[in-house]
Amino acid sequence: MSTSESVTLPPYTIIEPLGGPLEGSLTVPGDKSISHRAVLFAAMAEGTSHLTGVLDSEDVRASIRAVEALGASVLLDRQADGTLAGTVTGWGQQGPAQPDAPIDCGNSGTTARLLMGIVAPWDIKVTITGDASLQKRPMRRIVAPLAKMGCDFEPETPEHLPITVCGSRELRAIDYTSPMASAQLKTAVLLAGTFAEGTTTVNEPAPSRNHTELMLPEFNVPTTAGTRVASVQGPAEMLASDVVVPGDPSSAAFVAAAALLARGSSVRIENVSLNPARIGFVRTLERMGADIRESYEGAEGKEPRGAITINYTPTLRGCEIPSQHIASVIDEIPVLALVAAHARGITVFHEVGELRVKESDRLAAIIEGLGQLGIDAWEEGDDLYVEGNPNLQVPAGLVFDSHGDHRLAMTWALVGACGRVPVNVTEFTCVAVSYPDFLADLKGLVK
Ligand code: S3P
Repeated sequence: MSTSESVTLPPYTIIEPLGGPLEGSLTVPGDKSISHRAVLFAAMAEGTSHLTGVLDSEDVRASIRAVEALGASVLLDRQADGTLAGTVTGWGQQGPAQPDAPIDCGNSGTTARLLMGIVAPWDIKVTITGDASLQKRPMRRIVAPLAKMGCDFEPETPEHLPITVCGSRELRAIDYTSPMASAQLKTAVLLAGTFAEGTTTVNEPAPSRNHTELMLPEFNVPTTAGTRVASVQGPAEMLASDVVVPGDPSSAAFVAAAALLARGSSVRIENVSLNPARIGFVRTLERMGADIRESYEGAEGKEPRGAITINYTPTLRGCEIPSQHIASVIDEIPVLALVAAHARGITVFHEVGELRVKESDRLAAIIEGLGQLGIDAWEEGDDLYVEGNPNLQVPAGLVFDSHGDHRLAMTWALVGACGRVPVNVTEFTCVAVSYPDFLADLKGLVK
């Protein structure tokens, strides 16, 4: 194409109103947290694991590329339902291979942080890096416990990627009290502890998602877990296992919010993970008065799954989300804040400082975006306040900055999709990180 013919695309996507209520049922893509773990744990294990329902998204592909670089063999194909299924043959007792180049984790914090724990107990040197957003995210929280276990790093006490992990076969088991409720931190330490001599324990100030503790025993790792504590007994022999990944509640939360914002909607989300550590948004929306309920239909391994049904509810009210519950809604706070903007009264999210170090500074971005809607939202210390307006009228011509963050892009897209006027969202394609078919799925529910 000559330069005169080339078209400069606008840096934003126009999101048009869907034009009607959302009705019927759908499935959402595979759970991102469980998909990462299925791929990574299968790569660490001896033998061939069969995986189904794996999320096909940029983040999970980063984990797949990472384990391939370390010597695992991944044969996952895209299925008719859009998920990935197939086999992963792990490196097992022989350990991961020395990669010949840095491993680029793209935008995926879960890949980068879990990988540090995975390579730490082996005699290899692995440089881990990521995109501009990931290079800004804090890594000291993972480096600190792994260093206590005897792992070295280059530079010596790094804060940010790129980081070279200098692994060791002589890691020491530790009893670690984590300063924050983080499943990524907990998992990195437990994965390193799987190959250290003795019991490695992580204590948390509040419960974080527990997919690791539920899945490790399936891969033959002796594991015990309580509400704010998890331990592994090393050294373990990880053996292949089969994993069926249920739908992602974090993606379901956007569909649920859409049903609450688009008048007259009634939606059933099928085959979604109902792990209590992940459906804090259902509890929160209930407390706001939403007509939402979950029905249990069984389990995949130890992960409960079922359906979430949600009906448009004309009057919602603000509520308080205490700090102990924040980990169970951490990825859903942007979209819950948008729902709170439509509720009567004030919603308070307590102790949400972690939002500042997600894929973007989500705390600032929520306040900025809600401000564009004419909604008063502010921070007091680490608490987020949203003063709702049930009569909210969206002004025409808004341009929301997604900051390249998938959960912000989907949140602001709902303003246009479920409202009466289109909105513009910058870098909307970043939804491919967790929910590539997000808009198509919403459109499929409009009759
Ligand atoms: C995740 C844990 C959470 C969450 C992230 C996925 C995981 O992060 O926000 O999207 O899969 O372990 P933290 O561990 O930093 O809380």
